[in-house]
Amino acid sequence: MSKLTDMVPDFLYKSAAIDLKLLPDIQRECFRMFLIMQKKSPKGKIFYYFTDFKSEFGELADLCPVLASELERLDILHLFRRMFFIQWDPTHPPMPIHRDYLPTADTEGHFGLNIPVRGCEGSYTVFYSGELNYNTPWREDAIGTPAADRAIPANEQSVVEIDRVSSELPVWINNYVLHAGRTEFNRPRMLVSLRFYSMQSLFDNGYFDEYLVAK
Ligand SMILES: [Fe+2]
Repeated sequence: MSKLTDMVPDFLYKSAAIDLKLLPDIQRECFRMFLIMQKKSPKGKIFYYFTDFKSEFGELADLCPVLASELERLDILHLFRRMFFIQWDPTHPPMPIHRDYLPTADTEGHFGLNIPVRGCEGSYTVFYSGELNYNTPWREDAIGTPAADRAIPANEQSVVEIDRVSSELPVWINNYVLHAGRTEFNRPRMLVSLRFYSMQSLFDNGYFDEYLVAK
């Protein structure tokens, strides 16, 4: 079996050990960061995606100091690679169900740290079983930022919901499993997804469950 196929978490989601007292400050910082990214990539409608935070924007500690200090406390700031924003207005067509891009062996694996930014009460990340559809291009409204279309869409006729987790609190998600954001309301919501180097290694050696998951 190849290394890539080993790099899949064996859970759908786990609550993240982010100090919830800091969440309002982290949300404010992340929204400011969203405005910076939006300016740089004005065509994005759902996903605002950049490959490498440091080379695009600089040090996280300078732009989002509270978030950076929390990642430092968890001892994963040095592994932070990038963040992307998922903005979604449910009056538009639903977010495509998808698996995130295929990681390479030296990058982040299929671990996403999702943090609510705005309006996430009553919204969910929903997980599905079903088939991938490698031949379906991403919808125009789902691309527009570099490489967002590297994700693989599902054959939506084939999917069955298997579980869902609220987007209201910080959560680690397994983005290898087919998933999409869904809401119970009719207003925009935004979350940020953080990605880290070497997360599979931290999972394999027990650090992830010991220190990065809320008890
Ligand atoms: Fe995703």
